[in-house]
Amino acid sequence: MVEYEERTAVASPNIAMIKYWGRRDSALNLPFNSSLSMTLDLSLRTKTSVLFTNKVRRDIFYLNHRQISNRSVNEKIDNVRKVVKEMKELAGVKESVKAVIASENSFPMDSGIASSASGGAALVYALNSSLNLNLSSRELSIFARKISGSACRSVLGGIVKWNRGKREDGLDSYAEEVLDYKGWEELTDIIAIVSYRKKVIPSSVGHDITSVTSPLYRIRPELAEESIKRALKFIRDRDFEGLGEIIMRDSNNMHAAMLDSWPPIIYMNDTSIKVIHAIERLNKSEGRIIAAYTFDAGPNAHVITVRPQAERVRKALESVRGIKKILKVGVGQGPKLVEESLFSNTRYPESKLLREILAA
Ligand code: PMV
Repeated sequence: MVEYEERTAVASPNIAMIKYWGRRDSALNLPFNSSLSMTLDLSLRTKTSVLFTNKVRRDIFYLNHRQISNRSVNEKIDNVRKVVKEMKELAGVKESVKAVIASENSFPMDSGIASSASGGAALVYALNSSLNLNLSSRELSIFARKISGSACRSVLGGIVKWNRGKREDGLDSYAEEVLDYKGWEELTDIIAIVSYRKKVIPSSVGHDITSVTSPLYRIRPELAEESIKRALKFIRDRDFEGLGEIIMRDSNNMHAAMLDSWPPIIYMNDTSIKVIHAIERLNKSEGRIIAAYTFDAGPNAHVITVRPQAERVRKALESVRGIKKILKVGVGQGPKLVEESLFSNTRYPESKLLREILAA
C-alpha cells in the first residue's frame, strides 16, 4: 500500500530561556505565559518513523524499542494517540488503515533533557509528510503543542517564541522563529548530566500543582512576559550579559514557584545547586556574565554561553563533583526528514511483521 509513504524525521530538544510552567488548559496544553527557547542541534535527537498499513488492527507505537501497551495510562502517550487520530482524520485516512510508529532518542528520557519536545516535533513532522498534509510550521506547532507544550517550539530552528495566545481553542497559541539558527551561531548549551533517573513528578502533573497551589506563581505569568520582551532586545543586540541574567533569574523564579507548591516540587538536586555556585563563581571571577545556568523539570543543568567561552565553562563544570557527563550542543535548524528508517532495525520485536508490511 503506497498511498501514504513511510517517512522518518529527526528533531532536537529545545532549551527554554524563559520557561513554560503552568497551563490555563491542560487538555490542549495552553500556557499561562509565553516562552522563549533555543532549539538545540541534532547531536541530541529523536528519530521517528511512521508508516500506514491495513495489515494491523490498531495503531502501534514503539518508544525506544518497546511497544507501548494499549493500557498504559500516561498523559503524553494519550496526547500522541489523539494527535495521530486528528492528523489521520485531517488527511481523510480510512478507518481500516492504521499507523505504525517507532521513536528513538539519542539521550536519556525524563531527566531534564526534553525528550517529549523532540519526540512530539519529530512525530508531527513525519506524519505531515507521510500523510501529504503540507501543513505550515504554525499548524505543525499547534499539533506538537497538543502532545507536549514544549514540543511546539521544537518544530522550528534557531531562537523560538511560543506565544501564549488568548483563544480557548488554542489557535493563537503556537511557536514562531524569532531568530534564524545562523543569527547568533555562537550560542552554546553546555549540558551537565547529573542524573539519569526518571523524574518523580512528570511535568504534566507539576504544571497544574504549581499553578493551582503556589502563591508565588501568581506573579509569574506577567513576569515571564516582561522577561521575554527584555530578552528579545538583548538577543537583537547580541548582548549575552543581559540575556544571561534573565535566563538565570527566570529559571530561579520557576524553581522557586515549584518549591512553593503544595506538595512542594523539587527537581534540582545537590549537584544542581553546586552547578549554580560554580557558575556564580565563574562569572564573578570574570567580572561579567559569561555563562547562564537554567534547569527544566529535572536536575540536569543547561549552561548557556557563547562558543569562545565554552571551554572555560566546561572546565568550571569539570570541578563540580557529581556531574556524570558534560555535553556541548549548538543552535539547531529544527526537524528534517531523513532516509534511514527505524523499521530496518531487527531489534523491534515485530520487525518481521514490519518487514512484511514494508515489502507488501
Ligand atoms: O512540555 P512539558 O509539559 O514537558 O513542559 C516542559 C516545561 C519546562 O521544560 C520545565 C520548561 C520549558 O519551557 O521547556
